[in-house]
Amino acid sequence: MQDQLNALKLEAEQAIVQAADVVVLNELEVKFLGRKGELTSLLKGLAGVSAEDRPKLGALANEIKLSLERAVALRREGFEQEALSKLAESERVDVTEPGKAPLQGHIHIVSQAIDEITDIFSKIGFTRTRNPEVDWDWYAFESLNMPGDHPARDEWETFFMDAPVSKKGKMVLTPHTSNAQAHELERGEFPVRMINIGKCYRRQIDVTHVPMFHQFEGLCVDKNISISHLRGVLDYFAREFFGPDRKTRLRPFHFRFTEPSFEIDISCGVCGGTGIGADKQKCRVCKRGWLELGGAGMVHPNVLKASGVDPNVYSGFAFGWGVERTYMMKEGMKLDDIRTLYKNDLRFLQQF
Ligand code: PHE
Repeated sequence: MQDQLNALKLEAEQAIVQAADVVVLNELEVKFLGRKGELTSLLKGLAGVSAEDRPKLGALANEIKLSLERAVALRREGFEQEALSKLAESERVDVTEPGKAPLQGHIHIVSQAIDEITDIFSKIGFTRTRNPEVDWDWYAFESLNMPGDHPARDEWETFFMDAPVSKKGKMVLTPHTSNAQAHELERGEFPVRMINIGKCYRRQIDVTHVPMFHQFEGLCVDKNISISHLRGVLDYFAREFFGPDRKTRLRPFHFRFTEPSFEIDISCGVCGGTGIGADKQKCRVCKRGWLELGGAGMVHPNVLKASGVDPNVYSGFAFGWGVERTYMMKEGMKLDDIRTLYKNDLRFLQQF
């Protein structure tokens, strides 16, 4: 029996050491030390042993049991340590690793352009205003020297609202930001130096037009304001927005609400205003050295009078340009379809 016990010990010890994982170890524990295990069944044989040998064998069996229990416990601890260190390895955090940037949007390029334009004009004392984008006919047309039957209105084909008519006429989605002029002038506070940036609506859609777009409208009215002030402001804006080498020029034009009226051109950033490209051919961007920016002029006396301002005392200039179009003229902007700005294609928008 002694030999059997020792053989069992040896076999069990080897098996425990070789156990591949906790599951195997648990099975071995049951197999050798369990209530119906091999050691127990061997001990049943003690009954048939002489009373003399019984205590010795009993003690040996007990010793083997304890020693195997220790071996199992030790091996189990080993497995636990191993699992813990694996966990520590897999969950290790390298605090010096660069962080993951959270997904973050940014404001739309048209809003960026509006912010930039606002900043540029605020430096020379123009205050940003927000005049109505749905307004009375009076502000959009009538006060701007465009009576109801005047053909000049055709230029600004637009959307009228199905809303009650007031003394100021019908309501209209404003086709330009010039409606701000009468709103500012009728307050009777001078000097007026406003930059009104807002949405405009026209019945046009193609590569250079969208039915909803933005304009920025400058208005400066005070005593002794002349065309040279207008020129100074235009050149300042061109330098700040497009770069130090850009120049502007005035071309005679006609608007009902300014006199004289001009179209403003800006020297082309690609050919430097020469009209000749690097390949000695006509510049492909502008063809003639200049790009058209928008309208401007000296505020018409009738516009001043319509808002109760005396044109013999006050004078001023106004200009109104499209935000989108002006932005598209920035150097390096190779945007050939204005509608792209409003397609909400992230592949496009994320570039800015
Ligand atoms: N309102 C004109 C337009 O929409 C632009 C303009 C504004 C012209 C102010 C002269 C003075 O085309």
